Amino acid sequence: MKDCDPKHWDAVAEDYASSSEPITRPYGLDALAELGPRRGLRHLEAAAGTGGLALEAARSGCDVTATDSSPAMVARIAARAAGEGLANVTATVMDGQALDFPEGSFDLVCSAFGVMFFPDHRAGLSELKRVLAPGGKAAVVVWSHPDRMGHLSDWRELFRDDFPEFGDLERPAAWRAMDTADSLAAEMQAAEFRGVEVQPLRHAWVVPSSAWRPEEGRCHPFFERMLARLGPDSPDRARARLTAAFDERYGDGPATFPAEAWLAIGHR
Ligand SMILES: C[S@@+](CC[C@H](N)C(=O)[O-])C[C@H]1O[C@@H](n2cnc3c(N)ncnc32)[C@H](O)[C@@H]1O
Repeated sequence: MKDCDPKHWDAVAEDYASSSEPITRPYGLDALAELGPRRGLRHLEAAAGTGGLALEAARSGCDVTATDSSPAMVARIAARAAGEGLANVTATVMDGQALDFPEGSFDLVCSAFGVMFFPDHRAGLSELKRVLAPGGKAAVVVWSHPDRMGHLSDWRELFRDDFPEFGDLERPAAWRAMDTADSLAAEMQAAEFRGVEVQPLRHAWVVPSSAWRPEEGRCHPFFERMLARLGPDSPDRARARLTAAFDERYGDGPATFPAEAWLAIGHR
């Protein structure tokens, strides 16, 4: 299953809000702070996942449209908005590479850890630019290089030590294309955003246990593909070995990993 396959994201939607959203949230909140959401502004959250950031924009008073290609993710956004009584959220299933909105529909557009999983990230960025109103502002957040992400550099090291036949992490092409400040800025400029600025965002991932790390990999198809390369029973076997290795290294309690992302701001 590919990173872009909505079925993959459907399958992990139930766990995403509790396992992955707490990790992505601080970076997303930085992006939102840069965008400056406020009452009456039209905000698009593309590849919104379970909608943590979209709901935050709605709490600021924006009229929020949250889109994602996974119906299960979108259902969760709608349920959370209804649960909070946020009538200013519309949640819609939509491919971020072909947004079904007229040009200039939004004052703010945001995609956090979304475009980096699209098969065609250039289409995703161009679409964000197209639907942005003149004078509007866009925020795009992507993970940095795995060497600059504590959790991932551990994975790589353990894979190299324990499973040398694996080679390196298999990252989506879009992520590889945008994992430095310069390459992300260049991609934003190619999409014709003006006044592009890229800054690093650094937070610590606080994860509950050693088992969390190999388990959380289930949310990401590229980890699953790596594990599957060992053979039919390999994902569970590799997960057990990784958990034991992490236990040995960090103990079984919560652990903290510094991790870097990039925030690109662009204007129309
Ligand atoms: C890592 S999650 C990020 C979710 C959320 N923005 C966050 O910050 O936690 C990636 C999301 O991108 C969505 N996605 C992947 N490809 C997509 C596409 N082509 N169009 C729209 N959404 C897509 C997935 O369904 C998933 O919800």
